[in-house]
Amino acid sequence: MVRQKIIMDVDTGIDDSLALLYLLASPEAEIIGIAATAGNVPAKQVAANNLAWLEVCRAPEIEVALGAAEPLAIPLRTTEDTHGPQGIGYAELPTSTRSVSERDAARLWVDLVRAHPGEIVGLCTGPLTNLALALRIEPELPRLLHRLVIMGGAFNHPGNTTPTNEWNVHVDPEAAKEVFDAFSAAPADRRPLVCALDITETIEMKPEHLALLAERAHSVPVELVSEADGPGVRSAASNPIVRYCVDAVRFYFDFHRLYDQGYLAHMHDPFAAAVALDPSLARARPATVDVELTGTITRATTVADWAGMWGREPNADIVIGTDPKEFFERLIGRVGDFARTVYPEGAA
Ligand code: RIB
Ligand code: CA
Repeated sequence: MVRQKIIMDVDTGIDDSLALLYLLASPEAEIIGIAATAGNVPAKQVAANNLAWLEVCRAPEIEVALGAAEPLAIPLRTTEDTHGPQGIGYAELPTSTRSVSERDAARLWVDLVRAHPGEIVGLCTGPLTNLALALRIEPELPRLLHRLVIMGGAFNHPGNTTPTNEWNVHVDPEAAKEVFDAFSAAPADRRPLVCALDITETIEMKPEHLALLAERAHSVPVELVSEADGPGVRSAASNPIVRYCVDAVRFYFDFHRLYDQGYLAHMHDPFAAAVALDPSLARARPATVDVELTGTITRATTVADWAGMWGREPNADIVIGTDPKEFFERLIGRVGDFARTVYPEGAA
């Protein structure tokens, strides 16, 4: 099997964690680098979280590069209330013995795309700060990538951070604009595939999904996480990957319930990871995307021109449809089998 080379650019993050697990669990994926971008939590914590997950997963050595401490033009805003004090919910992963790369995230992007022209799929599930910095170093990056998949933005859909903007773009709107502008000259088959809230908020993880994951991993006990559980309840799953997943996602369930979205968790990032591996999972439509930077109440809003009203070529393929059930079958099957393989001793 020819494995798909992937660069992950993440702000781990509970759902970023599931994206990493999804790709580690997918034999057809070859993660050749992880860029730790400041967003949900500071960049150093993002890097530590990825190193810790790689250790828990007994993964091969994968380079984790530290991103910029701040967005391009504004101070960093993080969101520990959404993802937990360390960015992985209630999970407390063992500190990794692995170390962060000597090169930074932008350098990682540039060096890898130059070394593997036309081969790499870039997956961005956090703010676009480091991809923008990489584009400033290497303007040819859009043509050197095989494809780019972005989790971010909201088009015909409310924002999740302000009424009109989405978190990843909210943190660094200047970076998002630079990235979309840079892909304006890209050929049609190189346009970024954009997984915005319009579609990712249809990917609703429920407690039953975590129970199915535990069953698939042969982990015991199989726990049905409930909003009736006390605040201090933690997983007793025999399989560590299942255990840390449950503790991480439980925090996300609590957050979504707190904001009246139900006892569920939107799986934005693992969905984008699944699309990065198999674009046929998504139906997309071309559009010209730009980012509002000067609006007083609309700053960081992503705007899609679907009909060419601006007279500009499309620079994005926006995902407009998918099958959430198919996605969850892939997520549970892959990560469940992976967890059982990595920890056969944790199998009942
Ligand atoms: O708006 C959702 C996105 O913001 C996800 O990538 C989540 O991890 C946060 O980064
Ligand atoms: Ca993220």
